[in-house]
Amino acid sequence: MAEGARQLDETPESATVVVIGAGPAGLTVASLLRRCGIDCVVLERRSREHVAQRQRAGIVEARAVRMFESWGLADLVLGGPPHDGILEFRVDGESHLVDDSDGSEGPGARLCPQQVLVQKLTAAHLADGGDLRYEAADVTLHDLTGDRPMVRYRSADGTPHAISCAFVAGCDGEHGVTRTAVPDGHLTAHTLDHGIGWLTVLADAPPPAHPLLAVSPQGFAAHFPRGPHSSRYYLQCPPDDDPGAWPDDRIWDALRTRLADPALTAGPITDRETFRLRGLVNEPMQYGRLFLVGDAAHIVSPMGGKGMNLALYDADLFARAVRDQVRDGDDTALRTYSERCLRRVWSDQEFSHWLTRTVHDAGDATRCGPFLQRLARARLDRLFSSPAAARAFAELMTGLDPAQDRPASTGR
Ligand code: APR
Repeated sequence: MAEGARQLDETPESATVVVIGAGPAGLTVASLLRRCGIDCVVLERRSREHVAQRQRAGIVEARAVRMFESWGLADLVLGGPPHDGILEFRVDGESHLVDDSDGSEGPGARLCPQQVLVQKLTAAHLADGGDLRYEAADVTLHDLTGDRPMVRYRSADGTPHAISCAFVAGCDGEHGVTRTAVPDGHLTAHTLDHGIGWLTVLADAPPPAHPLLAVSPQGFAAHFPRGPHSSRYYLQCPPDDDPGAWPDDRIWDALRTRLADPALTAGPITDRETFRLRGLVNEPMQYGRLFLVGDAAHIVSPMGGKGMNLALYDADLFARAVRDQVRDGDDTALRTYSERCLRRVWSDQEFSHWLTRTVHDAGDATRCGPFLQRLARARLDRLFSSPAAARAFAELMTGLDPAQDRPASTGR
């Protein structure tokens, strides 16, 4: 059927913003827009149940907690206990407790698993009358450089739909479609592969007293809380290692050795997968009326827990920018969205890179050699002994580093 004929068949719906994806980025964008009284439609490819059970990140950094507080949403959408601000580094079995709170006034980080945040954001948005559409298939974007982009999709029953809008928020993660809607030549992907693999394990086993990073000659390991009775573990492994090469016994043996905790309590393993530590940033994060938010724009290695928190940061900047445009006719924040997001993205990429190299090079030197191993150990010694180094670390862990939040430039 000719394009014209199909358009004649459909009376497109209209919305100010169409959000593609209902993960942390999409749901936060939708929730913040609703707080501004700005209408949006969220189109999510998967079912609500599937999205709600996806377990990934586990900490909402202090900056993001305060962001939700500033919108009056913290009590509604944050679960899990406060993080006590203590991170444990265990180097060859020797424990070093590092204060990763920066001592500023205001609420600190929350040990809120990603699925809890997503479930609470979803429930709050729907309770508030939000328009969340699951199992939306074949999303396509049109006229992104015009004043009224068009988003087309099929609902679960196969019915075609069209929504005319002012802005599109691409919140569809690394494997979504919004980034691919940008014509070639407009985006540049910057990538880094650390050459390090991780086995990540979820288990119904007691969480640690503090989030724990362990350096050992056998390689890196970590133990993080994921709720009152569950834990996430990481084990350094060869890049592209097969999770099937890690039966339960091997996992618990390696954790007990690398965490220097022979009495570590085991538990039923509910998920295990391997992945490569890498970084990816797409520049710029906007094209016409399309704005990329979260994993759709950038991927960061899990060191430092910045993946989800960067998504929350982008979402906050985008919602405020749309509010400025819709309420005040001021497009400054929209025009500078990408440059302001990227300032924090690159700072968090640098922090994650620093921490990734430090805790891996300090351990098994076969990959990096003795010189880089000693550099990494010197960085850890500095962190454990210098108050200035510890404070700089805490600012980055909390996301409260003031240098990362440059006001929007007014230059065109
Ligand atoms: N159409 C509609 N929805 C889509 C499409 C599509 N073509 N492609 C992907 N999606 C949905 C996915 O099903 C998912 O629910 O977009 C959502 C993207 O969510 P995330 O991948 O969680 O990305 P984001 O919201 O940016 O959150 C980043 O999630 O994966 C973790 O480690 C990551 O903690 C980080 C956080």
